[in-house]
Amino acid sequence: MSNIRNIVILTGAGISAESGIDTFRGAGGLWENHRVEDVATPEAFARDPELVLRFYDMRREAIQQKRPNAAHEALARLDREWGGDLLIVTQNVDDLHERAGARRVLHMHGEHLNAWCLACDSRSPWRGPLVDRPECPACGERALRPDIVWFGEMPYRMDEIYDALREADLFVSIGTSGAVYPAAGFVRDARELGLRTLELNLEPSQGSAWFHESRLGAATEIVPHWVDEILSG
Ligand code: OAD
Repeated sequence: MSNIRNIVILTGAGISAESGIDTFRGAGGLWENHRVEDVATPEAFARDPELVLRFYDMRREAIQQKRPNAAHEALARLDREWGGDLLIVTQNVDDLHERAGARRVLHMHGEHLNAWCLACDSRSPWRGPLVDRPECPACGERALRPDIVWFGEMPYRMDEIYDALREADLFVSIGTSGAVYPAAGFVRDARELGLRTLELNLEPSQGSAWFHESRLGAATEIVPHWVDEILSG
């Protein structure tokens, strides 16, 4: 890997699993008693805003009790020490990469700790509940929703992600099932662009065959090991 300079890393729910945040598609997954369509679509929000806001209020509160694990910490170390370009693209809406110290993080599916005002289109840092319809700090309207990309909505900052892929030599996918597009398609885009591709996951993802290399195991073990390896050249 000595000819690697620029890296794009995609992370998913699997990197936060050992911090105690349930994955989406595992047994006893995140959605608990709620079907995804009941909480994670604009239609669900229009139909039953209180259910949706309560659900996300619960998740927002829960993630604030969790701590980054050794995999988040290893990527933060890579972020600090890597001399080339590095971009961590996360599908996760928690802030564990940032709390571990990573700086070059892009949240393509939004963030629990942001609220989005449907009246003035501003985003505000948000830690408390939304179900009681608080005022938007920017415009005063009571029109805040979670700043989360729901099914049927466009993920954020796709241009920046593709720009980074075009400049990169290595694409690494960590803890994601490869079930949700467009993120699931990054490995194919990376292959077409000529990048080296590596998967670090508990089990083979749906796109596993597209990767040059696949290492299986718990993120807290295999991610620090890979970071040690790449930093030592
Ligand atoms: P999934 O729940 O679909 O997949 C999690 C992956 O992590 C699985 O392949 C697991 O095998 C793996 N995994 C579980 N525990 C692990 C561990 N300790 N170490 C390493 N890997 C582990 O989650 P995502 O792929 O992130 O979208 O889901 C993608 C998107 O689907 C989410 O961002 C969300 C959801 O709908 C939106 O909210 C828009």
